[in-house]
Amino acid sequence: HLDTPLESSVSPALKFEVLAKCSTTKARASRMHLPHYTAHTPMFMPVGTMGTIKGITPGQLETLDCHVILGNTYHLGSQPGPELLEKAGGLHKFMAWDRGLLTDSGGFQMVSLLKLANITEEGVEFENPHNGKMMMLTPEMSIGLQNSIGADIMMQLDDVVSSLTTGPRVEEAMWRSLRWLDRGIKAHKRPSEQNLFPIVQGGLDERLRTISAQELIKRESPGYAIGGLSGGEAKGSFWRMVNLSTDILPTNKPRYCMGVGYAEDLVVCSALGVDMYDCVFPTRTARFGNALVRTGSLALRQGKYRDDFTPIDSECDCSTCKQFTRAYLYTSVTKETTNCHLITVHNIAFQMRLMRDIRTAIVEDRYPQFIRSFMKTRFGKTV
Ligand code: GUN
Ligand code: ZN
Repeated sequence: HLDTPLESSVSPALKFEVLAKCSTTKARASRMHLPHYTAHTPMFMPVGTMGTIKGITPGQLETLDCHVILGNTYHLGSQPGPELLEKAGGLHKFMAWDRGLLTDSGGFQMVSLLKLANITEEGVEFENPHNGKMMMLTPEMSIGLQNSIGADIMMQLDDVVSSLTTGPRVEEAMWRSLRWLDRGIKAHKRPSEQNLFPIVQGGLDERLRTISAQELIKRESPGYAIGGLSGGEAKGSFWRMVNLSTDILPTNKPRYCMGVGYAEDLVVCSALGVDMYDCVFPTRTARFGNALVRTGSLALRQGKYRDDFTPIDSECDCSTCKQFTRAYLYTSVTKETTNCHLITVHNIAFQMRLMRDIRTAIVEDRYPQFIRSFMKTRFGKTV
């Protein structure tokens, strides 16, 4: 029965088919046909910066069942740069990755990485870390760079404020993001090969989020993102904003919640009807020696693992768990690259398995039971 979609949408470079819906939550399992790959959702997309996912090769990502990975326009735009990327035939070819690729627009990274970024109506002004000169990233330039990179999905340049910001700045950023979206849509040169996703903004304000989502759906995009969250706000506000957004966004198109990667958030947001996620968390935390497991995470630099000859997770089928013990990983925690690589492999395997389990539970229409059992394992409480 999975071959006949319950709902679908067809855009020039994206076909989305909802294959199963949970009967009590808003969760759904879908198939997303992109120019380079057919991905299954809900899915998690690991994040790369310079066209590499730190500590792991594209071949290994394929083995680990990754369908789509993230690149970053800000980093790729300065190094290797658009001329070289076009010469190389796009980032897919350059980095030897033939599955799905999504690029973020760059503004968010500049604002979060560079304290010196200055937002004007024209774009995001920032100091180039290479030569100290002031530079400007406009919505048109962001789309131009993303056209050179050639990702299956590109993101609009948005004016992102911290989710903890209140007052008129939140509304200003929401309206400016809409104006930047329209400039980006005009500048997009390859709409039949690359998808441009708008981003819902509006902080933690229900009225602003509603206006933002309603305005975006008028633009009839192939998919939509929910941004400006997961920045330290209370879980209740986070979930309320996601729920409100998925209530407005069309049910036959993909929804992408940006910057979300904690297992419990993936489980809850999928129940709220989100299909796509990305976060540096699983790979970054691996480099600090933390291995993800269903109960939380193991800090492998702790002395208690010195003589623990079990794998990180005896039920994990990743190459790290098949070959190495916690005791070995404890020892290699100080040997930077080995440790980083082995734990990164496991953490990505963990994340991909969680998403497969979520998809299977939705298809078998037992997602509420899945959530209860997941929460019990993680927090030791029955919900
Ligand atoms: N990554 C995490 N959150 C955001 C957001 O709100 N906008 C963009 N462009 N990227 C993000
Ligand atoms: Zn493992």
